[in-house]
Amino acid sequence: MRQKKHMKKSTLSSIAIIAAIFITSCNNQTTTTTEKMETKAGITKSVWGTTDGKEVFLYTLTNAKGVQVKISNYGATVTSWVSPDKNDKPSGVVLGFDSLSGYLAKPPYFGAVVGRYGNRIAKGKFKIDTAQYTLATNNLPNALHGGLKGFDKQVWDATPASDSTASLELSYLSKDGEEGYPGNLKVAVRYTLTDDNELKIEYNATTDKATVLNLTNHSYFNLTGDISNSILDHTLMIDADNYTPVDTTLIPTGEIKSVKGTPFDFTKAKKIGLEIGAVSGGYDHNFVLNKKDSSLSKIVELKDSISGRTLEVFTTQPGVQFYTGNFLDGTISTSAGKKINQHAAMCLETQHFPDSPNQPKFPTTLLLPGQQFHSVTVYKLSVK
Ligand code: BGC
Repeated sequence: MRQKKHMKKSTLSSIAIIAAIFITSCNNQTTTTTEKMETKAGITKSVWGTTDGKEVFLYTLTNAKGVQVKISNYGATVTSWVSPDKNDKPSGVVLGFDSLSGYLAKPPYFGAVVGRYGNRIAKGKFKIDTAQYTLATNNLPNALHGGLKGFDKQVWDATPASDSTASLELSYLSKDGEEGYPGNLKVAVRYTLTDDNELKIEYNATTDKATVLNLTNHSYFNLTGDISNSILDHTLMIDADNYTPVDTTLIPTGEIKSVKGTPFDFTKAKKIGLEIGAVSGGYDHNFVLNKKDSSLSKIVELKDSISGRTLEVFTTQPGVQFYTGNFLDGTISTSAGKKINQHAAMCLETQHFPDSPNQPKFPTTLLLPGQQFHSVTVYKLSVK
């Protein structure tokens, strides 16, 4: 145990030497030279623009292997994650834009932290004791992802790690009554990119009045590194024997239903596209994770044979929203001008269940004054 701890520390503080191969072509002759490049783990900051009279920055987290994750304090958004494929060729695995303007055009939550309540609340109404609260119904007839101006559209305060750790802490005060939610909520999200190519996301929050809370990250993944390839050929395992079926407005019916014998059975890895045709509209469902407590456990394994990449997801949360980018329809393009079509990318949003404030049988999303909300999710990339 002691030895393990020591090893981790020394890897973290190390400066990795990365071998880069440069190929130069001359008179039909190709020569290959191997040069040593130094990658310094840590974080850098650049100015990205302004909105709401506040400065927006882009932070680049780099680990000792040279893998980079970019995060903006606009929406606490992951804008890019570039890592090598099986041939050591780096490419991006999440949807995002190169400039702030892409985000100000309100894409469907690309890479953002979603809150105060991730996913839907039926008809934008809920009660805490006898107090009735009303939210904007921004996804008719329901409230979705925190409202008209949720956490994804706010400028957060950001504090980069002061040492060589690739870590960024973002904080935001959501005022009492903002988007209809009760209580001044202080929320902090810390992103850390480890040398094992894990993006660790830690969420903390406190309130001064009883409120509801469901925080998640809304990254859209395509492990091939090229959104011309649909995610329907990715292979997925979700450690969930049950899911929460929904009505036509995507509100859970309240039933916790077995996945056995249905297209929702991902307990053994299968191609996402195999049975998606039998799911009206595509997958956009909350899976009830088999884990029995709030320990950090592996819940998902996603694989792509083109790039050789695997994404593992670990969480302390009880659910995950598996969304196959059904509403992406080519109207939004990447910064490089490529249309983002249906199923070009997919989300694995770790969370509490949608509409929990109106569903007494679901795990509670109530946060009371004096309580400390804490949750952790880790996305881990590897190649074979
Ligand atoms: C929801 C989808 C929604 C998407 C983008 C997902 O979390 O479940 O229904 O379209 O986010 O807003």
